[in-house]
Amino acid sequence: MEFPVQTANPAKAETACLVVPVFKDGDLLPAATKLDDASERLIGQLIEREDFDPKLGNVQMIPFAPGLNADRLLLVGLGTREKCQEGAFCKAVDAAFSALAKLPVEDTAVAFTDVPVPDRACDWKARMVAEAAHRAVYRFTDFKSEPGPAPKLERVTLLVSEGDDAAATREGARVGDGIGQGINTTRTLGNLPGNVCTPRYLAGRAEQLAAESGGALSTEILDEEALEALGAHSLLSVGHGSDEPSRLIVMKYQGAEDPDEAPHVLVGKGITFDSGGISLKPGAGMDEMKFDMCGAASVFGAVTSVLAVRPKINLVAIVASAENMPSGRATKPGDIIKTLRGLSVEVLNTDAEGRLVLCDALTYAERFEPASVVDIATLTGAAIIALGHHATGLMANDDDLALDLLDAGETSWDRAWHLPLWDEYQEQLDSNFADLANIGGRPAGTITAGCFLSRFADKFPWAHLDIAGTAWQSGAQKGASGRPVSLLTQYLLDREAEGRVEENSEA
Ligand code: BES
Ligand code: MN
Ligand code: ZN
Repeated sequence: MEFPVQTANPAKAETACLVVPVFKDGDLLPAATKLDDASERLIGQLIEREDFDPKLGNVQMIPFAPGLNADRLLLVGLGTREKCQEGAFCKAVDAAFSALAKLPVEDTAVAFTDVPVPDRACDWKARMVAEAAHRAVYRFTDFKSEPGPAPKLERVTLLVSEGDDAAATREGARVGDGIGQGINTTRTLGNLPGNVCTPRYLAGRAEQLAAESGGALSTEILDEEALEALGAHSLLSVGHGSDEPSRLIVMKYQGAEDPDEAPHVLVGKGITFDSGGISLKPGAGMDEMKFDMCGAASVFGAVTSVLAVRPKINLVAIVASAENMPSGRATKPGDIIKTLRGLSVEVLNTDAEGRLVLCDALTYAERFEPASVVDIATLTGAAIIALGHHATGLMANDDDLALDLLDAGETSWDRAWHLPLWDEYQEQLDSNFADLANIGGRPAGTITAGCFLSRFADKFPWAHLDIAGTAWQSGAQKGASGRPVSLLTQYLLDREAEGRVEENSEA
């Protein structure tokens, strides 16, 4: 997808489809005004005749518009000016691109940088537009004999007014383009079935990303033999019941001028199928446990975005991958295992397996002496009960890191909500037989899972994102969402910007 930036009167833009956002109260934005002037008050009349209601997210396609150079006009409702903030803006942009993806058009010109969003400039709006364009044209048809027509959209021209910062718009579109690619990478990995997307398959994808990166990314894959030699028995215990061997996948991106600059580390839960193991899950909806590697998929997505955008930071991406299955060799409830850190864990429920692979990956992260570690996991069904499908659950041992992630979530409109990791909750993990148990009972299941991880994350600023409610959608639109790639990439770009500010203040 291409995202050229053009300073032009929208009425003059030559395009297959011109997209113009409209407020409900009838006060037209600069782009819409120019269009109205050129078209004998087309928009004004449509609203007066009640043929178009500019309610937020409403779209109206006008196949032949007089006075315009565009073949078609797509009006998009913004709702009222007072309520036009990030959420409304993104909803309107999404509505426009969903409609565009269904039209037989290869190119469009959009006038979204005019829309006033408090505290958000052209670069932010362009970033959101580019990201939305990628999300809208995504289809997962790898396994369909007759995939049906694919969206044709290939070029999105961002129209800016004379006063707008065209360079900032271009940079925003470049970032959004990279993030959109990352999001769709994550969706495809998530959507792939468990019989294709195995730990070995994910390892292969890491090697492929490195091979295509022109030297920017290196990988290291630890197989079961290497994990055994290392002492990662907790990770290995999860895959014991499976015929698919487990893997620890490490990807390193060196973007900082100083190769020794402390890296930011992402750690993804990569359970390529979670049957629950001996603590077998009920059958209904179990197919969706192929999505239990969406944390890992979001790490691959963030790496993809970073390779596209190339921020000047160092990044280490770790994926802890296994298949959780029942068998005669599987870990049983009551078994006690030894983690890489040396702590013993009583496995009271083999379905609480995510924390068992992540704890060893967190211990492994220590060797990189990280500036921060963020793990991403479809860890608990309880996160869906607490936050539903809108917010990712955030827990951290460091308030500054928590704030940075919350902030990145607001900017990317891929939001998280902070939950407490108070000492009082830690007692729920007490075990009669080992150093700790792998479950903490029903109360606050998301928090006690976070508490478990926190025991392995005391050597660096660490945060945990529980994406059980946000990583995929169920029902008719079943599929991976690509969250929280946007948040993660924003977080990393913000760290780059922070580094720049520090450099300037030192100089
Ligand atoms: N992968 C699941 C969590 C999950 C369940 C995510 C449903 C999204 C939808 C995780 O491995 C799991 O099974 N967690 C258990 C933990 C419990 C045994 C303490 C859960 O949430 O029920
Ligand atoms: Mn489970
Ligand atoms: Zn799981």
